[in-house]
Amino acid sequence: MVAMSDPTAPEPGVRRLPAGVLERFAGVVGPEHVRTDPEVNAAQVVDWTGRFRGSTPAVVRPADVEEVAGVLAVCTEAGVPVVPQGGNTGLVGGSVPRAGEVVLDLNRLTEIGPVDVVTAQVTAGAGVTLASLQARAGAAGFAYAVDLAARDTATVGGTVATNAGGLHLLRWGGTRQQLLGIEAVLADGRVLRHLGGLAKDNTGYDLAGLLCGSEGTLAVVTAARLRLIPRLDARVVALLAFDEVSQAIEAVSRWRRSVGCLDAAELLFADGLALVCEHEGRRPPFTTEWPVYVLVEASSDGDPTDALAVAVGAEPAVREVAVASDDHGRAALWAYREDHTVAINALGPPHKLDVTLPLDRLARFVGEVRSRVGVVAPQARTWLFGHVGDGNLHVNVTGLDPDDETVDEAVLELVASLGGSISAEHGIGVAKRRWLHLNRSDAEIWAFAAIKRALDPQGLLNPGVLLPD
Ligand code: MLT
Ligand code: ZN
Repeated sequence: MVAMSDPTAPEPGVRRLPAGVLERFAGVVGPEHVRTDPEVNAAQVVDWTGRFRGSTPAVVRPADVEEVAGVLAVCTEAGVPVVPQGGNTGLVGGSVPRAGEVVLDLNRLTEIGPVDVVTAQVTAGAGVTLASLQARAGAAGFAYAVDLAARDTATVGGTVATNAGGLHLLRWGGTRQQLLGIEAVLADGRVLRHLGGLAKDNTGYDLAGLLCGSEGTLAVVTAARLRLIPRLDARVVALLAFDEVSQAIEAVSRWRRSVGCLDAAELLFADGLALVCEHEGRRPPFTTEWPVYVLVEASSDGDPTDALAVAVGAEPAVREVAVASDDHGRAALWAYREDHTVAINALGPPHKLDVTLPLDRLARFVGEVRSRVGVVAPQARTWLFGHVGDGNLHVNVTGLDPDDETVDEAVLELVASLGGSISAEHGIGVAKRRWLHLNRSDAEIWAFAAIKRALDPQGLLNPGVLLPD
């Protein structure tokens, strides 16, 4: 007997599933892993920011790739759309059932294979969190290159599906650069498995590269073969104050060339830092408030402090410095940067516009973006922070109606006019698909749609995400 509410009487606004589908799901994953109670599913129908909401007739929780394939085969036969979901930490609405789709919850796929110390590789299931992957890699003397503030919740499947960038892209690349193979399930239940991890393997289309960043629209990622990097325990973090954003950007480009062991270079502004301090009840890093801050981290097998100190000492524009190399001190400095997301969210659901600018236009963008927002939404507040080493700025705007896209349009058009990308690392999701044309030509969007039709002819996988209507 399947323990779930009557599918013929769904909650208002919830899609009615064809008769027998819930029972068929239960036959694949077990009745206890088909959840239909809206209260139980509440956290899985809204995104982390609270801006994107929806509803679902069921959250289905397969345990392994065979069960994922079984669930998707049922969906294809019954014409039921599906939203794959891992940690639900995405920031563009791509993991939320906006139109009453079934949620395919991949958090039970937590298997991590043995670390291959010869090739420095590991295979991890879609539901493995980045923190667990780091722990497994660390125990074997390695690390996983992609790290982000949501590490305790964000999963391998989600970070592969969105090609997550994170804090260390500057040195090690993003998720696509770590991906040596993939296991994924197509909409009809067919399994693509290519996890051999061979360094040279030139045998046709790079399906792993294609699925990475496809945001769940082409297939459901169930496992990934990942490159590991050496675990570099000697680490130093410095928070540096500047008067001008252009000085900060120029200093970082010089450090990128002169400090070979530079892992991260992050940009903060006085208002964001003050908000974090107020929200977290924390003391500011300096007695003087400076307009602009850069947080840098370097790591190596020997102490990287001297290398960083020489580079920083050669920059006359640096006004004040706080340095830490012990765990506690480093975490305290990182918190000024990482806590921006939580502190901003506490003001109400922000519009998160994650963009990249060519480095030589980043300062100009910073100078213009607040006034552009001010023109279309005088009541709004604009918060800026990001990965300055990558030219990636997170423009967060608070004080807006979640559905009002006027500011989104103004900011993204400014980005495109300066030769930037409307999505640096968060993806397109539902938040930005209207503006994909700002970065992609008609021919490119036609090719995207052709690939989508070929792999998912019924359009069941994450409908309404990435591709424009
Ligand atoms: C970050 O860099 O902190 C993340 O991309 C999250 C965010 O943009 O809020
Ligand atoms: Zn980021």
